[in-house]
Amino acid sequence: MKEKVFVMIKPDGVRRKLVGNIISRIERKGLDINRIEMRKVPEELAKKHYEEHMGKPFYDDLIEHITSGPSVLMEVEGQDAIEAVSAMVGNTDPNKALPGTIRFDYAQSKTYNIIHRSDSHQSAEREIMLFFK
Ligand code: GTP
Ligand code: MG
Repeated sequence: MKEKVFVMIKPDGVRRKLVGNIISRIERKGLDINRIEMRKVPEELAKKHYEEHMGKPFYDDLIEHITSGPSVLMEVEGQDAIEAVSAMVGNTDPNKALPGTIRFDYAQSKTYNIIHRSDSHQSAEREIMLFFK
């Protein structure tokens, strides 16, 4: 099924100059980048985006990190795009992610894990609305 997914290269990914590499992986896979924008996510938006994690021990660090500099925001579309991007990104914990995934290849910590992607059709719709509408 052709579907859309929200993808965000987090500030650590931008700072480490991984934007080109990550875009390249998405394109190489055959997915379409419908929208792309580099922008610093304001605190209010970061909190809305991550509201399900409010109160968890890592929440404050997560919000601080996401608002610490520009992120690259994308709407990506293609065949089973949610599953495809999820496989490319890998496990939340970079040391549990498979070699060849973005998180295994470039990250060491769960807070600084380079990239976010919507994990379901429902969160994709919600996040595309939140960041682009
Ligand atoms: P996202 O694509 O960013 O949503 O990652 P995810 O779906 O793999 O993980 P989840 O939605 O559970 O958590 C959102 C973000 O919170 C993760 O990407 C991490 O940056 C952070 N996070 C989640 N769990 C932990 C944790 O146990 N420790 C720390 N330090 N950060 C966490
Ligand atoms: Mg998630």
